[in-house]
Amino acid sequence: MPRIVCLWLGLLLSFSGFGQSDQDFLIIPKPAKMEVLDGRFMFSNETTVRFPPDNAELKTLADPFIRQFQAATGFSLRTENRPGATPTATLLAFVPVSDANLGDEGYRLDVTTTTITIEATKPAGFFYAIQSLYQLLPPEIFRSTPADLSVNWSVPACRIEDKPRYGYRGLHLDVARHFFPVSFIKKYIDLLALHKFNTFHWHLTDDQGWRIEIKKYPKLTQVGSRRKETLIGHYYESDPQQFDGQSYGGFYTQDEVREVVRYAKSKYVTIIPEIEMPGHALAILAAYPEFGCSGGPYETATKWGIFTDVLCPYDRTFTFLQDVLTEVMTLFPGPYIHIGGDECPKISWKKSPFCQNLMKKLKLKNENQLQSYFISRIDKWVSSKGWKTIGWDEILEGNSPAIRVSPGATVMSWRGIEGGLKAARQNHDVIMTPGNFLYLDHYQADRSQEPLAFGRFTPLEKTYSYDPTPADLPATAQKHLIGAQANVWTEYLKTANQVEYMVWPRAAAVAEVVWTPLDQKNWPDFTRRLPALFKRLDALGVSYSRAYYDVVAETRPQPDGTLQIAMTTQEETAEIRYSTDGSTPTAQSVRYDRPFDLTKPTSVKAVTVKSGVVIGDVQVWDFAVSKATGKSIQFATIPTRPKNIDPALLIDGRYGTTIGYLEEMQNVAGVKTADLTATLDLAEPQSIQLVTIGLVKATAGAILLPKQVDVAVSDDGRTFRTVKTVSMDPRERGKKAIIRQTLTFEPVTCRYVRISARNVGKVPAGMTQAGKDAWVMVDEITVE
Ligand code: ACM
Repeated sequence: MPRIVCLWLGLLLSFSGFGQSDQDFLIIPKPAKMEVLDGRFMFSNETTVRFPPDNAELKTLADPFIRQFQAATGFSLRTENRPGATPTATLLAFVPVSDANLGDEGYRLDVTTTTITIEATKPAGFFYAIQSLYQLLPPEIFRSTPADLSVNWSVPACRIEDKPRYGYRGLHLDVARHFFPVSFIKKYIDLLALHKFNTFHWHLTDDQGWRIEIKKYPKLTQVGSRRKETLIGHYYESDPQQFDGQSYGGFYTQDEVREVVRYAKSKYVTIIPEIEMPGHALAILAAYPEFGCSGGPYETATKWGIFTDVLCPYDRTFTFLQDVLTEVMTLFPGPYIHIGGDECPKISWKKSPFCQNLMKKLKLKNENQLQSYFISRIDKWVSSKGWKTIGWDEILEGNSPAIRVSPGATVMSWRGIEGGLKAARQNHDVIMTPGNFLYLDHYQADRSQEPLAFGRFTPLEKTYSYDPTPADLPATAQKHLIGAQANVWTEYLKTANQVEYMVWPRAAAVAEVVWTPLDQKNWPDFTRRLPALFKRLDALGVSYSRAYYDVVAETRPQPDGTLQIAMTTQEETAEIRYSTDGSTPTAQSVRYDRPFDLTKPTSVKAVTVKSGVVIGDVQVWDFAVSKATGKSIQFATIPTRPKNIDPALLIDGRYGTTIGYLEEMQNVAGVKTADLTATLDLAEPQSIQLVTIGLVKATAGAILLPKQVDVAVSDDGRTFRTVKTVSMDPRERGKKAIIRQTLTFEPVTCRYVRISARNVGKVPAGMTQAGKDAWVMVDEITVE
């Protein structure tokens, strides 16, 4: 829009537009109660901010708002703390009240045409009111330099009464797999606080790095904060795995930790440090091998996963851990300390004479009980210091009447919800962090179009749909469900921008899960507010994902041999523009109105456009169209990976991908030990001379190239003659890939085409999975 028109519109809005518009009430998380009133409150240089006398904390918490307001608007708000002083124009008043209804974090925000009144019982409530006020203002309020003169610095008249659904509202960040500097941690906390989260779970230690300075054990950071190199790509990307050869490390000094804790406190965010034990401890063992069962040497991990070397339950190990936690307790405010407890293999304990003797002495039945001994011994010590233990849901495993974690230990339920519900029934406090909904390292969109991620698929709507408290949970257990948290593991997130991309906007959905009352939570209404969130994140310089706007394409092979492409985007008020000539689509490209047909292989690119502006990322697909399109296909042996697949997926026009974990490959079909044989019925005799088939090679996962691929043809579907055979080397290793094999032969007229990928059977000696059953997996088949 030309600047002059913009200005004119802005003036028009500010002079005539005293009412509400659909640009109003875009607060995330949605307030518990909100009443819309007539008119607007106009901010100006004459607006006064009034505090009660002698309330330094309120002034301190409002100061950043006043500073930010000046930075973005150029207006200086006046402040005063004399009771009864008369403001010259409009007033923003902070009024402490005692009102049990509001609780410690609730607030009332009353906006009239002349006054904004904020009431709360505690500072946190005032802080959250300010976050709502920010979000009632135009998104430009988050700019660091004055916005365009046309911006209308007003808020709609309303009456908001708000408080959180849950007392615990958390966001986590793994800084062990990849390290992020203090400046980024502060920005992360800013965004948490803006969305009314009150807890930051700082995952400070893991196999791949120890990230917090401990004065008594300097080698933790001298040695344990570094790894000699890092795996390249996804876990199964290459066979053998490839490493980057670059030393990697980083840690926070105690001064930096104190600074971050202070910063978080100013935003009403409590930090929970996590010190992992007894598993995920290779960085400790690299520095201090005497705490491992074998004595080492050990090395800080250079790849991801679960490692069998873990802390050994010697007395000296407990002394070490207590020393570490003692220092940690001087840095963090409490009351919680997270001790991990997840994914601890028992192999080194099984092999250790010390552990076996200890188990006899303690009359422990198995190594699970030894883990319970480990955790409960630390938990008891933590509790004795007046702190509260949190652990992943494994901390309840192996518990017995004699040895168990204290009733005060809080359980973080990550392997689904059952562990958490069971813990709540046992009267442990529980924080829900189920992977299926709240792991923000999962893909949020079509993985073939996304940057590398952990795997799995958790789109925004799925995260939004999560309800931490099942209705059928007994009330006695419900009260132990203190909240929920989203986790951000960083194996595949190397940069701050990648972290932000994975976290936003999904964390905004989580904010609504943990803050907004269930009856106010509403996906369509959330999506109405999403564009405003994006504008705020733009102003704040956050690299969020626009996957919500992605165009999704569906292929529909037609009986006439064409491939119909149907497109949708979740943003129903937007249009889709696309190209089929390889060009990058723009707001001027062909508008998608109805499904269209492809008659030959085509690269299709599409974007979402709103009000003439491209709002989504370009999606790109190469679609296959051939004589196989729209025909029928059958397997001789039913593929078992994935289960229950429709054979038609091999001729649906869409190429597969191997991105992510082996079981998550898309649009490919695999059989174990047997050959993969598919027979196409071309419906009538046709002249053909070429077949292509995609062959998956992922030898780290026992998915091998076939030893041979052959094409046979038939007129009647019973008697086949082979027209082409290609031998392949199933021992070929290297990068995980789908290799497109072309098989050409003299033109032949036939109705049936049979393609067989011959399985080697067992993985040959000398290979990574030698002796295991081999898989053959195939992708799209084309026929010319
Ligand atoms: C976890 O994701 N291992 C807690």
